[in-house]
Amino acid sequence: MKKIIALALSAILLLGLLAGCQSSEEGPGKNTYGLTTLKEGYLTVLTSPDYAPYEFYALDADGNPSLAGFDMELAQYIADYLGLTLEVIPMSFNGIVGEMAANGADLAMAGLSPDPDRETAMDFSDIYYAGKQAFVTVESKASQFTDLASTNNASFSIAAQTGTIQMDLAAEFSPNAQFVSLPKATDIIAELVSGKLDGAYVEWDVAEAYKQNYPELTIVCEVPYEADGNVIGVAKGNADLLKYVNEALNKCVDEGTFATYVANALELAAGDNYQGLLDDEGNIPVETTAAAE
Ligand code: ARG
Repeated sequence: MKKIIALALSAILLLGLLAGCQSSEEGPGKNTYGLTTLKEGYLTVLTSPDYAPYEFYALDADGNPSLAGFDMELAQYIADYLGLTLEVIPMSFNGIVGEMAANGADLAMAGLSPDPDRETAMDFSDIYYAGKQAFVTVESKASQFTDLASTNNASFSIAAQTGTIQMDLAAEFSPNAQFVSLPKATDIIAELVSGKLDGAYVEWDVAEAYKQNYPELTIVCEVPYEADGNVIGVAKGNADLLKYVNEALNKCVDEGTFATYVANALELAAGDNYQGLLDDEGNIPVETTAAAE
């Protein structure tokens, strides 16, 4: 019972903390392991909240957004484990690798794949989530795609999110198609649904989550990729931080806590949510509000 109350309390705290979370009003944490971080006593985490169930904004009854998703709950768990105050910086996915390379944060938690090309910019944690890749289309076009090979056709317009490993997958499996890269996963889904695109490469579970709001979205097939899973990007060369982040995340996974984060994220992703960046005032940009309905 105590545990349930504690969990409920931490969920409330988490929501409070993550709401509007660009900068926390909380002071620095006690820094349990004496780690060197970007800002002493804080854990600065980059994310790209266009990616349910990994990271997105859940809307409350009044439509107010707060950061949600299993990456965000895991970020809070790790911060608590390290005795650091969490600060999340939402940004476009395409900027994350460069920001890590420029020492702009301690961690990148964005459904990140351990792409060897990124290893000059950051170190990788252990894999914490077994994600896989998908090729998606819409129901009305599904009969055109029989398998992955059928996507490699000059008459198709095929997209992937800018800066992601899905761009490499498009180049590998659909080199003859017309390729489009879009900065937000949300834009890809919107353009698929409106008929501007024929297909796209996305993370499997992200496709499943978008499907809840856009039922016409159709997963054609799984796409092979050498690393089956997601990692946390850790500030390059900060061996102590890497060590304790791995310790925290393995504990979170092993004790079953992470599984509850995944379940929470899937539930919130099925409800009212917004995927994308907020404006400078922390509001959902007006022109995209309707797309979230
Ligand atoms: N897993 C892919 C990659 O690392 C895509 C990640 C996109 N993440 C996001 N939050 N939009 O390239």
